[in-house]
Amino acid sequence: MSILKIARMGHPILQGMAEAVADPTAPEIRRLIADMVETMIDASGAGLAAPQVHVPLRVLMFLVPGGRGQGEAVPLTVLINPEIEPLDDSVQTAYEGCLSLPGLTGAVPRFGKLRYRGLGRDGKVIERVAEGFHARVVQHEYDHLDGILYPMRMPDLGSFGFVEEIRRTRDEAEFDEGE
Ligand code: NI
Repeated sequence: MSILKIARMGHPILQGMAEAVADPTAPEIRRLIADMVETMIDASGAGLAAPQVHVPLRVLMFLVPGGRGQGEAVPLTVLINPEIEPLDDSVQTAYEGCLSLPGLTGAVPRFGKLRYRGLGRDGKVIERVAEGFHARVVQHEYDHLDGILYPMRMPDLGSFGFVEEIRRTRDEAEFDEGE
């Protein structure tokens, strides 16, 4: 296993449409996933998508530690060729961060409840309903597969800034909800 280099905003790999994985259980996909898990954990990230490690394929992963503001914990989940479907019109706005924008954060509106479906690393279907932070992280990682970074979802760039500054000037509860 190896720790992979993470692309930062501005690199064109983050702006393209990723391609579907043809064979989810192929050895090179297993290796990619193992390296992405190691990379995400090393970077203390809550999620990672393959284009962020310079691989334009529809693979994402995330975990929800749970606790304050995040609702229920969700174990490390890998989704290959995922699909998402909003389940109602509810929208929640909260601060997000991204390993491709180190040190930065911004308030992003996301669907509050959705269903997602994809193949796990064993090639079996995973289908779940997600709400709150769980739904947010799935939408954030899914966007990476379509070349979308969270600032592109922000209606108000006035909330975009460095984590250190925002953390000390915004209401703590507001900040913690989405990080
Ligand atoms: Ni990201």
